[in-house]
Amino acid sequence: MGIVDEDVVRVREETDMVRLITQHTQLKKSGRQWMGLCPFHGEKSPSFSVNQEKGVYYCFGCQVSGDSIDFVREMESLDFAGAVEYLAGRAGITLRYTDRNEGKAHSRRKHLIEAIGKAVAFYHDLLLNDPDARSAREYLKSRGFDGEVARRFSIGWAPDDWSQLAGHLQLSDADLQATGLGGINRRGGQYDAFRARIMFPIFDERDNPVGFGGRKLPDGEDPKYKNTSDAAETYSKSRVLYGLNWAKTEASRSDEIVVCEGYTDVIGFHLAGLERAVATCGTAMTPDHARKLARFAPRVVLAFDADGAGQSAAERVYEWEEEFGLQFAVAELPVDADPGDLFRTDPEGLRRAVEQARPFLEFRIDRVLGRGDMDTAEGRAHAAEEAAALVGQHPNTLVRDQYLVGIADRCLLDVEHLRQRMFDRKASTGREGSGKTSRHGATAAAQARPQQVDRLTPETQALRLLAHRPDEIAGHLSDVLFDDPTSRAVYRSLSIHGGIHAAVSALNAEQDGGTPAALLGRLAVEDAGDDEAVGVLSRLLSLAAGRMAVELEAVSRRDGDLATYQPAISYLRTEMMELREPGRDIADLEPLLRWLIDYREGRSDA
Ligand code: UTP
Ligand code: MN
Repeated sequence: MGIVDEDVVRVREETDMVRLITQHTQLKKSGRQWMGLCPFHGEKSPSFSVNQEKGVYYCFGCQVSGDSIDFVREMESLDFAGAVEYLAGRAGITLRYTDRNEGKAHSRRKHLIEAIGKAVAFYHDLLLNDPDARSAREYLKSRGFDGEVARRFSIGWAPDDWSQLAGHLQLSDADLQATGLGGINRRGGQYDAFRARIMFPIFDERDNPVGFGGRKLPDGEDPKYKNTSDAAETYSKSRVLYGLNWAKTEASRSDEIVVCEGYTDVIGFHLAGLERAVATCGTAMTPDHARKLARFAPRVVLAFDADGAGQSAAERVYEWEEEFGLQFAVAELPVDADPGDLFRTDPEGLRRAVEQARPFLEFRIDRVLGRGDMDTAEGRAHAAEEAAALVGQHPNTLVRDQYLVGIADRCLLDVEHLRQRMFDRKASTGREGSGKTSRHGATAAAQARPQQVDRLTPETQALRLLAHRPDEIAGHLSDVLFDDPTSRAVYRSLSIHGGIHAAVSALNAEQDGGTPAALLGRLAVEDAGDDEAVGVLSRLLSLAAGRMAVELEAVSRRDGDLATYQPAISYLRTEMMELREPGRDIADLEPLLRWLIDYREGRSDA
């Protein structure tokens, strides 16, 4: 098949399978075999085995098998000859071809890559030496990219000219277009694709140049960046990761890879000493990107500006975590600061941000809780619902539940209560992860509320009684008994305005009054039936006491101060037990209600 058989055999023999494969997955010696996670399918426990002596691999999970050439063909998407050439290159073997032309035919890609390599050198030389590139040099220098940096990353300058590069490369029209470096104008002449731009060459992970990102100078023509066209044969924006050639070693070593937004960000990370940063080139992350990342490191740290990371499609991140065995974390960068600039102003901060990167979901929850108003019960409830909506997007129940416990604690809520809310929300929307990815968590939270309208809870029961037979219950209610914001709004409106009609129209006049008005409307047409004030109140009080106890427990844990809160907690727990006993008079409930009101007021004064 073009390459001399003997050479193919030699390539097989001289390839160290374990070394080859450990570039993609970690292997551990187990008897005479090496075992690891299969690089071809996502899995959590190792079923991929490698026999070093025989030079073959087999996966017990997905049943793939083969030798070193098969492995490279699969991993690098190469044909047979390409894979042999790849391995020969690694082993330092010079291949002989049975027919030179055939050898060439296999190497069209090689030929194109050579041409792009020539362009890299051409642009680079101009940047360093051409008098016309002075403003480019000055601009780069002003951003902290000096000659040494230009050399390290092979940065170049595409001259402000129609066809200098094409003239230099002397390619056929077809090849010029296939490289993405130029095109053919109407008069049949070749022209350059990039003009008057700072050129960031893009290499594949084997150091082959495959494309460019060209940045305009500050006063140049838009767009800011022009990238090699996807029509170019060597280049695919949905696959390529800028900087992977420089990042792969450190990424494999540390099991972590950083994904940032752009060319200058990658360079900034490297200059700050974090030599494991890559970027997608002018596109959002694709499954192919994720698959490729997984070959180099199991942990991906997203270093986008915070909102970008939060809004990136969450479901896909979880999907990729499952499918490729990845874990996504998010580094919190200062607002309005790119790694491409931070490496100069705050390199330490940049490193710290990556070090302190938090799991994707944790990061998003922290952001929601961080901007919530945690000083009021309403604010905490709202924040908890928003955060719970994010949790709902995660596919794993065990993961979800741990986050729920954390949220409940931080919002001083009973976790059972929060679980129930989430459960209700799911049941009513009829599917998992109801919140979809709302651009702003608020949408998800807003969705969570209206369901309250059709559930009969002790709170709504009390309101129904208040609407129909106010004499029996009005004097025994208070704000503290209403945890649900909708119910609380109805309670307030009814107690201020007295009658149902006045309350409904007052609510309708309020900005957020739609949902409470709907609730009250519904309760008004219902019959209060044989609801008994004392029973309804007992349940309401018990719930309120329970909430308060949970809140105090959380506070005491947070402050590490059980002594201060213990008496109150014990009081509440005892009262809750007593409330279950039948035959109590409504007057017996008064002390606990007073206590709750006073305690709430005391605490908010403090
Ligand atoms: P940015 O606009 O954040 O640019 O786009 P940047 O990387 O910070 O560049 P500097 O620091 O201002 O020079 C981030 C990435 O999005 C792609 C590029 O890959 C860029 O690096 N992009 C941006 C384009 O492809 N085209 C554009 O017009 C702009
Ligand atoms: Mn940027």
